[in-house]
Amino acid sequence: MYKMKPEYYTGILAIDKEHARLFELVQQTQDLLNNDILMDKTDHLTELISELINYTRTHFSHEEAYMESIHYPHIAAHAAQHRQFESKLLEFDLDSITDDFDEQNDAVQHLLDFLVTWLINHIMKVDMLYTEKQPV
Ligand SMILES: [Fe+2]
Ligand SMILES: [Fe+2]
Repeated sequence: MYKMKPEYYTGILAIDKEHARLFELVQQTQDLLNNDILMDKTDHLTELISELINYTRTHFSHEEAYMESIHYPHIAAHAAQHRQFESKLLEFDLDSITDDFDEQNDAVQHLLDFLVTWLINHIMKVDMLYTEKQPV
């Protein structure tokens, strides 16, 4: 189950709410992976990726505006990580997905691994730097 844990909270309410929504999208990816009834996952995967692209863009722009508002000195490096994440999502090759059930699950697993690793690492090690908390 993917959701916010105490150590993920930045203490900035608006940011924490958006991070919680990102974890919901990670959980939706896990649910899609676990779904054994749906024979073709392509449409769901396409929708999920487009929601991830839209929502992370929104979140990143709010976060970057927040960093500017507090005159955080390392915005450029932080924003570069956001851009990298966005391009990874855009690179996700939906056209190569066949109608093979196992191959589709591999694609969903690949997305899930990428999301989990990136999101937790980014929140704990990078987002925490603009807060008053110490990064782990
Ligand atoms: Fe960030
Ligand atoms: Fe963030």
